[in-house]
Amino acid sequence: MDNPYLPSDWDLMEIREIIPHHFFLTLAPSASVTFPAFRPGQFFQLSLPGVGEAPISISSPPTRPGTLEMCVRRVGRLTGAVSRLKRGDRVGLRGPLGNGYPLELIRGRDLVILAGGLGMVPLRSLMMHVADTPREYGNITVLYGARTEGELLFTDELFRLGARRGIHVELIVQENTGDSGYRMRFGSRVGFVTDLIQGVDGNPAESFVAMCGPPAFYRYAVKELLTRGYSKGLIYLSLERRMECGIGKCGHCSVGYRYTCVEGPIFNYWDAFNTPEMVEMREGDPWINS
Ligand SMILES: Cc1cc2nc3c(=O)[nH]c(=O)nc-3n(C[C@H](O)[C@H](O)[C@H](O)COP(=O)(O)OP(=O)(O)OC[C@H]3O[C@@H](n4cnc5c(N)ncnc54)[C@H](O)[C@@H]3O)c2cc1C
Ligand code: FES
Repeated sequence: MDNPYLPSDWDLMEIREIIPHHFFLTLAPSASVTFPAFRPGQFFQLSLPGVGEAPISISSPPTRPGTLEMCVRRVGRLTGAVSRLKRGDRVGLRGPLGNGYPLELIRGRDLVILAGGLGMVPLRSLMMHVADTPREYGNITVLYGARTEGELLFTDELFRLGARRGIHVELIVQENTGDSGYRMRFGSRVGFVTDLIQGVDGNPAESFVAMCGPPAFYRYAVKELLTRGYSKGLIYLSLERRMECGIGKCGHCSVGYRYTCVEGPIFNYWDAFNTPEMVEMREGDPWINS
């Protein structure tokens, strides 16, 4: 059996800083490596010799094999070293790891993608996958928010894909800094991404919701979704925890009794809200277990 701790070699085909501190990578397997099968929502442990490794989501869809796309935000040791890489450099990847989105459950349904900040990175994989196989899925709505326009990822691509594949895309920012034509480009939406839920067409009770964003965002998003009639069994969210092994051995990623590296990072409403410490809950939130 292959050693699960041993990374395989991938070549960096392209690296671009798409917004400040966020680096978009295109990677191709080295000659000895077979391109792996994966699901949207899965991740790899990305490593650099002598630096370390960190979990990084897959941002491209399985429908476009041959290269993998990722987006790395420079926050620390490994991501800092990644930001200094050049085309032609080599990185290690272990994976794909984690469970990914339940495509069987999404098939035939409308899909609502709800993203905050860097949460758009794994959801881009899901959105493109569904857009590439439109006959298998219903309508797609993408609601995406960030603090400022400058922090929104993939905006031009989202609108291009939306126009070509009939995906309804809505963007919103918390602060209109007014320095990059926000009103002209996206209308005048200022607020929280949860404000956009009320405008989604379709049958909420039968729609699948995929969310990824900062932890505090989930509490408000779930509350709004339940108020609007979305089904608890069809609400899925992504949870990020510090990881080491990524394969359910070391316990670093445990939350309650769950290892988020193998049982996650994608959890449904019931798992997320019934596991202590998984999502921020407040005493008296009546919608949590009802
Ligand atoms: C399933 C999963 C998927 C992920 N996908 C992505 C992705 O697609 N893209 C992405 O960019 N990230 C992603 N992450 C997050 C990423 O793995 C972490 O940000 C990771 O820790 C980065 O590694 P690093 O070595 O660069 O940072 P680290 O050095 O581990 O630093 C991590 C954090 O700790 C803080 N920190 C570091 N050193 C210090 C210090 N001395 N004192 C105080 N604070 C410090 C940093 O500011 C930073 O916020 C994902 C995480 C998970 C679990
Ligand atoms: S990271 Fe080791 S058990 Fe999950």
